[in-house]
Amino acid sequence: MSKKQDDDLDYETTGHEWDGIKEYNKPLPRWWLWTFYATIVWAVLYTIAYPAWPGIREATPGLLGYSTRGEVAEEIARFEQANEAISVQLASVELTEIAQDPDLNQYAQNAGAAVFRTWCAQCHGSGAAGVQAAGYPNLLDDDWLWGGDIEAIHATIAHGIRNEEDPDARWSQMPAFGEMLEAEEISQVVNYVMSLSEEPNDASKVAAGETVYLDNCAACHMDDGTGDRWQGAPNLTDAIWLYGGDYETLTETVTYSRFGVMPSWTNRLSESQIRAVAAYVHGLGGGEAPPE
Ligand code: HEC
Ligand code: HEC
Repeated sequence: MSKKQDDDLDYETTGHEWDGIKEYNKPLPRWWLWTFYATIVWAVLYTIAYPAWPGIREATPGLLGYSTRGEVAEEIARFEQANEAISVQLASVELTEIAQDPDLNQYAQNAGAAVFRTWCAQCHGSGAAGVQAAGYPNLLDDDWLWGGDIEAIHATIAHGIRNEEDPDARWSQMPAFGEMLEAEEISQVVNYVMSLSEEPNDASKVAAGETVYLDNCAACHMDDGTGDRWQGAPNLTDAIWLYGGDYETLTETVTYSRFGVMPSWTNRLSESQIRAVAAYVHGLGGGEAPPE
């Protein structure tokens, strides 16, 4: 298309015209074009110098050998080196001594909080109060399924609960009573369980429920309902529920039973990390003194 000078205006146009509207011929400013070419040259040099082009397994490494992963690894190595002595100390002292040594305890609490945020919070909540979904215990209170002194907490974390991959995991299994009791007996025992924690219940069923309870449940939850930590059988009298204390939920628990699983951490965390997070959990508020 021929360029032509517009008669009325001093501007050169491209010769394009739509319904009387003419397109001026205004090239981009020279400085803009040079900047643009410079960015292209820069991009080419950059992809040669730094990791850039994706390959099948990894990107081209770049002539400078730079990698963000390498930087992080270096940083971590530097950090670990600085903490090595105290970390070794943490992994080797008696568990009960951690709380008595202020420096060691400080280190354990900080490192433990970091481990907790990374590995535990998705199930136990970032504040350790358990997540909304039922079955994940609150670790802030003094209601313990398996024990709240530092040794017990350490054992729970190291080997997990009902975790088939770890032979040392804590293990127990409540039977599914739907296969063993009549529906009416389940209703009775559920009302009895509700009476233990003074939840509103059908009083006419409680006496019969007590008999069902003593025959079927007391072996694990104890005659008085306070539970048994050797078997991780929860206390049924404290109105703190792992799964829920209303009639429907209790009926479901008794009919089908539950099987709460917690992973084991010995293969994923170092002994010093496990001890740090045990000290952290122990320090959250419900930690108990060691057994006599
Ligand atoms: C995949 C989910 C999950 C993750 C991740 C998890 N837990 Fe647990 N944890 C559970 C469940 C479920 C239970 C309760 C099991 C039961 O019913 O006995 C539990 C129980 C516990 C208990 C025993 C509480 C008691 O009352 O005796 C402790 C202590 C504990 N977890 C600490 C941790 C720590 C520390 C971590 C991180 C290193 C962690 N958990 C990561 C699911 C998880
Ligand atoms: C072999 C031991 C055993 C027997 C027998 C047993 N339980 Fe359990 N019970 C457990 C264990 C262990 C848990 C924890 C299960 C889990 O967290 O996965 C539990 C959990 C419960 C819970 C859930 C508590 C909560 O906080 O949500 C209730 C309710 C309960 N049992 C009631 C009963 C009743 C009622 C009977 C008798 C009909 C009974 N149990 C018999 C071991 C037992």
